[in-house]
Amino acid sequence: MSDIGNYRLNNGVKIPCVGFGTWQAADGEEAYNACRYALEAGYRHIDTAYAYGNERSVARAIKDSGLQRDEVFLTTKLPSHIKSYDGAVEYLTESLNRLQTDFIDLYLIHAPWPWSNVGEECTEGNIEAWRAMIDLMRAGKIRAIGVSNFSVKDIKAIVDATGVVPAVNQIRYFIGNTQDEITSYCKENGILVEAYSPLATGELVDMEVISEFAQKYGVSTAQLCIKFCLENGTLPLPKSVNKERIQQNFDLGFSISDDDMSALNALYHIGSVLPYRS
Ligand code: A2P
Repeated sequence: MSDIGNYRLNNGVKIPCVGFGTWQAADGEEAYNACRYALEAGYRHIDTAYAYGNERSVARAIKDSGLQRDEVFLTTKLPSHIKSYDGAVEYLTESLNRLQTDFIDLYLIHAPWPWSNVGEECTEGNIEAWRAMIDLMRAGKIRAIGVSNFSVKDIKAIVDATGVVPAVNQIRYFIGNTQDEITSYCKENGILVEAYSPLATGELVDMEVISEFAQKYGVSTAQLCIKFCLENGTLPLPKSVNKERIQQNFDLGFSISDDDMSALNALYHIGSVLPYRS
C-alpha cells in the first residue's frame, strides 16, 4: 500500500491526494464492491454524487469496511439542476441520509448549469446554492465546499457575491486536456483542481504515445496518467470497478522526470478534449 499523502484545502482541511471515483459505478453490488476494494487497497477518499445514484452503496461499503467515518474523506455533489437556497438544503439533507452520516467532507455544486441544458445562464441560482452551502458549512454539516465544471466567469460570480472562495474545482482533466485557463486561475486563487476522468474514461490506456512513457517507469499507462495529475498538483479521481485495477491505480510510488512532464504537458488534444463530460 503506498502512502499517497494529503493536500490542504484553502480552509485548512486536509484531503487525501488521490480519490476513488465512482461515476458510472452502478448502485448495488458494483459500487459496493468497488468501494470495498478501494478501502482495502488504502484509498481514504471517495468521490460520489447524488446524481450517480450510488450514495447508499458507498455508505454501506464504508460501514462494512470497519473504518470510522472520520477516517474516510467523503465528497458528494448537489445535482446540477438544483439552483436555489432551499433546494441545496434539501438535497444536502437527502445526501446525508443516503450516506448515513452527519457530515460531508466536501460538497460540490455539480455543474454551473443543468446537464440537460449545458451552458444555460444560472448565475443567480449558483449564488443562491452557494449561499446555502456556506451556511451549511458554518452549521458543521459540511467541512469544505467547492464547485465542479465551473469556468473562471462562473467562479468569479459566486466569489464576488459572497466573498467565499471555493476550496475545489473538479474538472475533466487528463494528459492532453489540462484546461490551462481554468487550471491556472484556480492555482493562482488557492482553489485545488480535482481531475475527474484522469484516464479520459479509459480512452488513454491504450494510447501508444503514453504507454511509451509508462514503459520507461515500469508502470501501466493508467498509473502514468494518474501520476501525471499529481505531478501537476491536481487531485486525480480514477474510477474502476475491477479489484486489480483499483489496487494498481493507487500504487503510485514513482516520479515522472521534469523532461517527461514537459513532454506529456505538450501532448495537446490526443483524447476527446471536451471541457466537461459528454
Ligand atoms: P473498469 O471500471 O472496468 O476498470 P476514468 O477514471 O478516466 O473515468 O476511467 C475509467 C475507465 O477506465 C473505466 O472504463 C475503467 O474500467 C477503466 N480503467 C480504470 N483503471 C484502469 C486500469 N488500470 N487499466 C485499464 N483500464 C482502467
